[in-house]
Amino acid sequence: MQKIAQGLKRRNKTIGFVPTMGALHEGHLSLIRQANKENDIIVVSIFVNPIQFGPREDFSCYPRPLKEDRALCLKQKVDLLFYPTANQMYKMGFKTYVEVKDLSNVLCGVKRKGHFRGVATVVCKLFNIVQPDSAYFGQKDAQQAIIIQRMVKDLNIPIRIRLMPTVRQRNGLALSSRNLYLDKQERQDALCLSEALKRAKNLIKSGERNCQIIIKKLRELIESKKTARLEYVSIVDLENLKPMKKIKDKCLIALAVCIGKTRLIDNMVVKPD
Ligand code: PAJ
Repeated sequence: MQKIAQGLKRRNKTIGFVPTMGALHEGHLSLIRQANKENDIIVVSIFVNPIQFGPREDFSCYPRPLKEDRALCLKQKVDLLFYPTANQMYKMGFKTYVEVKDLSNVLCGVKRKGHFRGVATVVCKLFNIVQPDSAYFGQKDAQQAIIIQRMVKDLNIPIRIRLMPTVRQRNGLALSSRNLYLDKQERQDALCLSEALKRAKNLIKSGERNCQIIIKKLRELIESKKTARLEYVSIVDLENLKPMKKIKDKCLIALAVCIGKTRLIDNMVVKPD
């Protein structure tokens, strides 16, 4: 892959890159379409990255429908599909990790220790292998995107990070490969994530600025669902992910909820007025 990328660069082709873990859905496809608009060559990677999963997480049962993913990529005119094995990515003796401090141990990082270290490390490796001009990420994983943007700045990686809006079902549920795990009742209860965000938006619109009050209302909404268990709901500064007391400027409202055994996340950026 790296040799191919170097060859393309010598021929002055621009490379757009969409890193994924597969089980592709419209969210991923929206990134691929945007990449297609802005680059000569499109590279998609599919790699279920073992080092970003905790020991009790869903690494082994994460969906891997490679055939279907491949067909979707063909349809979207993806030029190169890069799907390395774990042994190829982490050869014996692998010892180097990328850690983006402070941003990695808050929000999702509280429960998922080491997760963002795994993400930053694999994305850094993929960037070096694929050598893209631009790389495309979804707002759906806001903390991940903020961490990657920080890494690219801090390590002088010459890649433009493009952040694309969250793609949702018509009923508000953010698309996620993990939605495949949900049964009928859980699919219904899973709507509480986007409903909570909508509620927050309305509260802020009607003048509420106290984060504690907003968070309490969202917590009540989520806890009223049978299969839902709230992991966190936070209102944080967009740059440093620190909790805010009063909503003054643009902020990120982020939450993680377990629906049955499935952990889902969602978020929204709000700008008062
Ligand atoms: P994955 O969950 O497969 O997501 C790949 C990319 O698709 C991420 O940038 C994610 O934010 C984006 N995405 C997922 N659902 C989306 C939606 N509903 N709307 C818009 N974009 C969406 O995120 C990962 O994989 C991995 O952590 C990875 C970056 C590949 C590193 O292993």
